[in-house]
Amino acid sequence: MRNTRRTRSETVDDPRHSYLPGAGHDLLLPLYDSVQKWLGIPRLHQTLIDLADLTGSARTLEIGCGTGNLAILAKRLHPATEVVGIDPDPRALARAGRKAGPALAVGFDQGYGQELPYPDASFDRVLSAFMFHHLDPEVKRRTLQEVLRVLEPGGGLHMVDFGGRVAASDGRMARLQLRSHRLRANMGDGIPRLLRDAGFADVAESAHRTSRVGRVTYYRALAPAVLSTP
Ligand SMILES: C[S@@+](CC[C@H](N)C(=O)[O-])C[C@H]1O[C@@H](n2cnc3c(N)ncnc32)[C@H](O)[C@@H]1O
Repeated sequence: MRNTRRTRSETVDDPRHSYLPGAGHDLLLPLYDSVQKWLGIPRLHQTLIDLADLTGSARTLEIGCGTGNLAILAKRLHPATEVVGIDPDPRALARAGRKAGPALAVGFDQGYGQELPYPDASFDRVLSAFMFHHLDPEVKRRTLQEVLRVLEPGGGLHMVDFGGRVAASDGRMARLQLRSHRLRANMGDGIPRLLRDAGFADVAESAHRTSRVGRVTYYRALAPAVLSTP
């Protein structure tokens, strides 16, 4: 007989969607921003923006933008940068749009990381915060190929997620991360390996931080610069 017992993290997958929503279930979405604050996510977002160095960026895309907190912060801190967020969740996007308001010109599009509705080489930065672990293995691969396609040569993907070196001896949050089927694939060199396989250059873990969510890792990967033909 098939084993129908579900793991703890599988119980939050909402079968009505072809994606895993930000809070795990639509009903929890109204609590999402307050929980994010309590978990210390705004500080982790700020670090991602600093590491991505948006000062020289003309066009920045956030994949899996959810309720828009990172995209909105990026625009506030770097008003000269055109910022676009994309997410499949219409409810999260409605909240993002309300928070940004008409004054802060952040674009929010509905769509998937693995099917980005943008032309080739149309962004110089792509940001990804806590969305990568929402994706199944094949979707991760397709998403990275799409990010590479929409990045201009030399442009950078900057990601923060659960990943890298995590040991059970690091504490309770580390043990929870190691038990999660979604997070386990990201551990060790799981994310850098996928980035290199997709064709990114200069893949690196750029920082680590710890907050109430536990230890998170920042990654940087560049779209290879086009070699000039002789
Ligand atoms: C934990 S939330 C993070 C939201 C935001 N990046 C932040 O840091 O506040 C993960 C987001 O990934 C989105 N997501 C899930 N599958 C996706 C996919 N295939 N493509 C793009 N976004 C996806 C979810 O809808 C959700 O909004």
